[in-house]
Amino acid sequence: MSEGNTSNQVEDLKYRALQELESASDAEQLEAWRVAYLGRRGELTQVLRSLGSLPADERRAAGAPANAVRSALEQGLEDRELQIKRAAAENGTAGEAIDVTLPGWPTPRGGLHPTTRIVRDICNAFTSMGFSVVEGPEVEWDTYNFEKLNIPKGHPARDMWATLWVDHTDEDGEHPMLMRTHTSPMQARIMEKTDPPVRVVVPGRCYRYEATDPTHEWHFYQVEGLAVDRGITMADLKGTLYEFARRIFGVDRKVRFRCDYFPFVEPGVDMSIDCFLCDGKGCRVCADTGWIEIMGAGMVHPKVLEGVGYDPNIYTGFAFGMGPERIALLKYGIEDIRLFYANDLRFLRQFA
Ligand code: PHE
Repeated sequence: MSEGNTSNQVEDLKYRALQELESASDAEQLEAWRVAYLGRRGELTQVLRSLGSLPADERRAAGAPANAVRSALEQGLEDRELQIKRAAAENGTAGEAIDVTLPGWPTPRGGLHPTTRIVRDICNAFTSMGFSVVEGPEVEWDTYNFEKLNIPKGHPARDMWATLWVDHTDEDGEHPMLMRTHTSPMQARIMEKTDPPVRVVVPGRCYRYEATDPTHEWHFYQVEGLAVDRGITMADLKGTLYEFARRIFGVDRKVRFRCDYFPFVEPGVDMSIDCFLCDGKGCRVCADTGWIEIMGAGMVHPKVLEGVGYDPNIYTGFAFGMGPERIALLKYGIEDIRLFYANDLRFLRQFA
């Protein structure tokens, strides 16, 4: 073998090897390439080995270019390895084939907020008794929130609702706006728009200017109820609300009505259920009384009926209002109403 031949041969080999290396695209192909050229029986290794049989001067002349090719191939291998790793890291496959049969990452699923759940439960209890569900504005005129509910300006009964006023008045510079303090304004809005009979429940958010504590929030939900028709009596009120209590708190519940005052009902009552935790014996939930107050109610005041154009000599009705968070507090034994809107997943997940 002449010197010229050997160096041509190794140059060819280098050219071919480096070209092949370009098309190697994973660890396996790189290893096959290494074995083919640089392995113990690899092509270049054999060339290098054959140099040993050359005469000393030829060996020296051919040795240098052959060793240079070896360095070039080794360097090429290293570079290509790095390139492949980088490409894999960039497209996130880390050099491994993608197994398309693997199950995907589970998509986290949200749950309904506990308020949403209890509001739905309450509304369902009433819709199954023939009520419809309507909603109303959260920003309300003073007229609807108070005046049409028999609470005139300057009347001390207004103190029952700590009010968040909105800095806005109508064209006359009167009738200020507020964040509604209860859902009762919808009583007037509905009656103004519909002829009796009326049977509706109104779930929705309310606001009060309130220092918060475990039983007070500055915003909360209410579910209002209104039924107006000829011949509706207090017995209808009691029967309907008794059935509601049984559906939400269980069939064994007893109910108790006591006199209470709300300017837009006459007579006015508050309704309690016997404590579902201790069956009326007295415990932490019912503050040892055996009874839990769950809503205000009463017969719609004749003045309210008149104000919306209903003849109180023909029509009568009952109304009620309850706080769903309070009902959820009782039903699920939650200790602080502020947990409902603190967005703490540890709390919310318990109801999902
Ligand atoms: N709106 C009253 C409140 O917020 C509750 C209520 C509604 C009472 C309907 C009687 C009738 O306290």
